[in-house]
Amino acid sequence: MADSIQGLKRSSMCADLTEANIGEKVTLMGWCHKCRDLGGLTFITLRDRTGEIQLVISPDASEELKAKASSIRSEFVLAAVGEVALRSAPNPKMKTGTIEVNVEDLRIISEAQTTPFYIEDDDTANEALRLKYRYLDLRRPCMQKNLMFRHRIAKCARDYYDEAGFIEIETPMLGKSTPEGARDYLVPSRVKNGSFFALPQSPQLYKQLLMLAGYDRYFQIAKCFRDEDLRADRQPEFTQIDLEMSFVECEDVMKVTEGFLVRVFKEVMDMDIELPIRRIPYAEAMERYGSDKPDLRFGLELKNITEIAKKIDFIVFKGAIDLGGSVRAVVVPNGASMTRKEIDALGEVCKTYKAKGMAWLVPSKEPRGSFLKFLTPELISEIAEATGAGENDLICIVADKDKVTFDALGALRCEAAKKLGLIDPNDFKLCWVTEFPMFEYSEEEGRYMAMHHPFTCPMDEDLEYLETDKSKLRSKAYDIVLNGCELGGGSIRIHNRDLQMRVFKALGFTEESAQEQFGFLLDAFTYGVPPHGGLAFGLDRMVMLMGHCSSIREVIAFPKVQNSSDLMTEAPAPVEAKQLAELGIEVSVPEKEEDVEDGAIFD
Ligand code: AMO
Repeated sequence: MADSIQGLKRSSMCADLTEANIGEKVTLMGWCHKCRDLGGLTFITLRDRTGEIQLVISPDASEELKAKASSIRSEFVLAAVGEVALRSAPNPKMKTGTIEVNVEDLRIISEAQTTPFYIEDDDTANEALRLKYRYLDLRRPCMQKNLMFRHRIAKCARDYYDEAGFIEIETPMLGKSTPEGARDYLVPSRVKNGSFFALPQSPQLYKQLLMLAGYDRYFQIAKCFRDEDLRADRQPEFTQIDLEMSFVECEDVMKVTEGFLVRVFKEVMDMDIELPIRRIPYAEAMERYGSDKPDLRFGLELKNITEIAKKIDFIVFKGAIDLGGSVRAVVVPNGASMTRKEIDALGEVCKTYKAKGMAWLVPSKEPRGSFLKFLTPELISEIAEATGAGENDLICIVADKDKVTFDALGALRCEAAKKLGLIDPNDFKLCWVTEFPMFEYSEEEGRYMAMHHPFTCPMDEDLEYLETDKSKLRSKAYDIVLNGCELGGGSIRIHNRDLQMRVFKALGFTEESAQEQFGFLLDAFTYGVPPHGGLAFGLDRMVMLMGHCSSIREVIAFPKVQNSSDLMTEAPAPVEAKQLAELGIEVSVPEKEEDVEDGAIFD
């Protein structure tokens, strides 16, 4: 029979005690982290979310107390009453390492069976096992630190936006499925069989309607759902710090956002962010970094060598150029000493991004390279000069459609920087990426899609392209990027029915289909709309990057794995036939056995 805590009141959290408490009688409650019974003398490390403290049951204690102490195992929940004393053998690794508590009363509140892995930061149990027993994994100090850190960032957001005049308004979870963007999670209606709600991919339209409704400044820490392939920085269910403002232009939203970043970096990391945050137009970001989320912690910029490549009789270059593509390069400093294997590994990175291969060149006195036979000494010098490469450097070249050269070399640039140790993990480099294209051509869909979303306002000076050349149209969208990761994004919105209709048409809607999908928005636009704009941060990503975590799963209490399932609850799971009948749903696809290999469930 377990003891009860009746009559006991916790006086302190474990690691809040200091030498200043010596001599005080305290009541502590927590988990037994470790118990060492040295024959009559028992040491227990008691743990709660603040940390640990050593409890001592001395040989002079009553037989009953000693017997109880010797029955304690790891992860038992205990309550202990005793006096704080100076520790004779201090433990410098513990925050409370100079003190201990001499126990007078000890209660076992709950017993625990042996856990499937140690509750320790450096335990190496595999992640699948940890996620199956996530409630135990969450006991680990590093996980508790991450979730408390997350709380502080969320709290800072609430404080900041509240002080800046934003009000938090909740928006529905059950909404309407709309095309564009990621795939929706659908919820079948019982009342209206055959109809479905969609879980929100973001509160985008609701927040715009709140501006129209006169709320002026809205914010929300909002749950969002997207049924898309997961990555290390992507979850199907994630959280945004979402905001919208009325009567604003890009500058206003960016200024408020920068204010928050200054505040949050100062408050949770004691770091000063330099203002203004650098702004890089999309086209420049692609040209120089091969990415719309450039990592500015290192150089290794892309160089366009298409003009030189035109003079080289190499079919790979010629073919790409003839198809309207380009030839670009990244210089790996001191890459001349890389082995063939290492160079090939960089080539493999390029191939992951659909490049057919990677050509390379070391422009030393005795040049080496994968396409030397097509080069003259003059051409080698020209390439070296154009790329800024020295004799000890390795020039990596990709020739393809622009999108492929950018993607491949953008990734290679990051990979090489990682390999060369050019990234300081304590460096935080923020930038804005602006002037995004309004549309992006999707090879898959065979049509133009909105790059951000269809409610983004085109740039005034480009409006003429809306009907003439969609590829040239830029938008009033901006992304905030941290260390090569898209931390947030937003835009000034369209607030005019006619312009919204033109954009829908450019996306392939007819008047009727747009009315059917977005009738509520188009109608709303006829009742007086303030110009408005906003932004959403990915809260999970923010916590992950600021907390130096390598995966978004480390900052979410109960995350999903690669196949979007939850290993602890085993959701998604089949439901009873009766539930399906109520929803008017028949499942025709036979259930497949899921592959739960580690490689299949983690990125
Ligand atoms: P966007 O789609 O760019 O914009 O999302 C905003 C931010 O949310 C984060 N994010 C994610 N985080 C984790 N897992 C995901 N699957 C995921 N998808 C996005 C990113 C991203 O920058 N309504 C617009 C915002 C606006 O225009 O105001 C929107 O949702 O950090």
